[in-house]
Amino acid sequence: MTTPRITDGFHHITLVASDAGRTLAFWRDLLGLELVGQRTGPADPSSAQLHLGRDGGRPGTLVSFLDWGDAPRGHYGIGGIHHLALGVGTPEAQLRWKRRLQDAGVPVTGPYDRGYFRSIYFADPDGQVVEIATRGPGYAIDEPADALGQADTIPPSAQLRGGRDEAAIRALVHPEPVPVITPEMRLDGLHHITGMTDDIRRADEFYHQALGLRLVKRSVNQDAPDMPHWFWARYDGRTVHPHSGWTLFEWPAMARRARAGVGQTHHVAFRVEDVEDLREWQDHLRAMGLQPTGIEDRGAFHSLRFPAPDGMLLELATDGPGFAMERRPEERVEAGATPAV
Ligand SMILES: [Fe+2]
Ligand SMILES: [Fe+2]
Repeated sequence: MTTPRITDGFHHITLVASDAGRTLAFWRDLLGLELVGQRTGPADPSSAQLHLGRDGGRPGTLVSFLDWGDAPRGHYGIGGIHHLALGVGTPEAQLRWKRRLQDAGVPVTGPYDRGYFRSIYFADPDGQVVEIATRGPGYAIDEPADALGQADTIPPSAQLRGGRDEAAIRALVHPEPVPVITPEMRLDGLHHITGMTDDIRRADEFYHQALGLRLVKRSVNQDAPDMPHWFWARYDGRTVHPHSGWTLFEWPAMARRARAGVGQTHHVAFRVEDVEDLREWQDHLRAMGLQPTGIEDRGAFHSLRFPAPDGMLLELATDGPGFAMERRPEERVEAGATPAV
């Protein structure tokens, strides 16, 4: 096998939503992400997009939405995404998020101690499962930092469904209302993204060869421990790059397949440098026998798309030119204002 090209990690994730105003109320006003770009699709309304993120649209922090209006709902399954996780600094800040979401009428489960991080879960207004995960303690908690992913790791039984004190977990929440997002609550982009595949060893080979991601954890689904759960990332043998945690559950091959539609992830995009780099990636993917699309100008970035062997739709997107060029001054949306989308 030739040396793979290596992505820096996620560029963005794109979800299918049904109501732009409701999407903004949740992702911008409740979760505090910035609206960094928006495009309407007059010829094709299903191409209307909202882009939310951090720092004006830094790759790795971007959550994008296609507005499909009344289109049918999708469902997750093999070749689809189960959830996306946004990062937060500390367990204390995470408990503030639990309180803020619950007070807004959003049911929250957790915090669960996953070993590598702590997790709370909820759903956005269209049903996409979202997690807020703490930055640490990290993947080196149960194996050496310079040898991640080389052995099977079995989580302690106190972390597994059936071994946890669910009542104590439910009761854990910040004691006061949280009307304002404090600086330590800042959600810092895509912590990890988790999907389903039907052949985890094939996926390991594919993501290594196609994107240069390396296995950093071979474990099991802590909520269904007979299901394999493997983690990949940009990993140089010492550290795991932020915004690059890609994880898959292995479902039985006869289980249902993902169906695109409202409430589901449409695709996941990984970072490449620029258009010239993108052309080299295109050659690299073709040399693997894949059939990537042509390179498309999508305004804030250029990209191409290709499917993984299990059907997962992937994209490679350039870091530039970025979202600043996409928004003329008169289109800028003041914080708290309702934009015309
Ligand atoms: Fe997760
Ligand atoms: Fe995309």
